[in-house]
Amino acid sequence: MNALARGKLITFEGGEGAGKSTHAKRLAKFLEGRGLDVTRTREPGGSEGAEEIRRLLVEGAPGRWTPLTETFLYAAARADHVARLVEPALAAGRWVISDRFTDSTLAYQGYGHGLDAATIETVNALAAGGLMPDLTVLLDLPVDEGLARAGKRADDGPLAGREDRYERMDRAFHQRLRDGFRAIAAADTARCVVIDATRPVDDVAAAIAAAVTERLLDP
Ligand SMILES: Nc1ncnc2c1ncn2[C@@H]1O[C@H](COP(=O)(O)OP(=O)(O)OP(=O)(O)O)[C@@H](O)[C@H]1O
Ligand SMILES: [Mg+2]
Repeated sequence: MNALARGKLITFEGGEGAGKSTHAKRLAKFLEGRGLDVTRTREPGGSEGAEEIRRLLVEGAPGRWTPLTETFLYAAARADHVARLVEPALAAGRWVISDRFTDSTLAYQGYGHGLDAATIETVNALAAGGLMPDLTVLLDLPVDEGLARAGKRADDGPLAGREDRYERMDRAFHQRLRDGFRAIAAADTARCVVIDATRPVDDVAAAIAAAVTERLLDP
């Protein structure tokens, strides 16, 4: 009855300044070049309500929320984003590229802030309605390199300079994040691909395009 194939969800994950926004854009161009309809989005945010919640999360003092409150704020934003933007786009056959998704909650609130993984996984599953990415690209980069890059981030809207709440957390937090992302990817190699993000931008983009081609386009 309905011949329209459901789209695929690709997520970019990694620490501050790893290149997520840069490569979300590059991958969107690559997929459009293959004739696909692409929706590029981000978390926290991506829908009108979720963008309002984003401000509560990425601006202000590093310690303004408890880890549990923060997890619920991410979940509230994600529930809106998935219901209003991601699911309708996938159902319409569009490929969705999200700059961060559920793994960031496990990495930041779990590995970073010490909230237990089972709680986060439960909340994540509820918020995303069980939706899982078809492919997750982890951009892996040493902490100091990421923080040095983050000041020059690619999504430089008028408020981007104020979105520094996580950058201002201590170095040990960022190291736990990196280790956490790597552990998440290692535990689910069917979904996740780890890309060495220290390499030049064009090399990273080519590695991502190759992974997407091999896993989703011409499997
Ligand atoms: N492979 C690379 N080599 C050198 N510089 C890079 C590379 N990838 C991205 N950059 C630069 O690093 C900065 C941060 O990149 P980008 O904003 O894409 O990272 P991000 O992961 O989205 O960061 P944030 O977590 O802060 O949003 C930008 O100035 C970008 O041009
Ligand atoms: Mg970014």
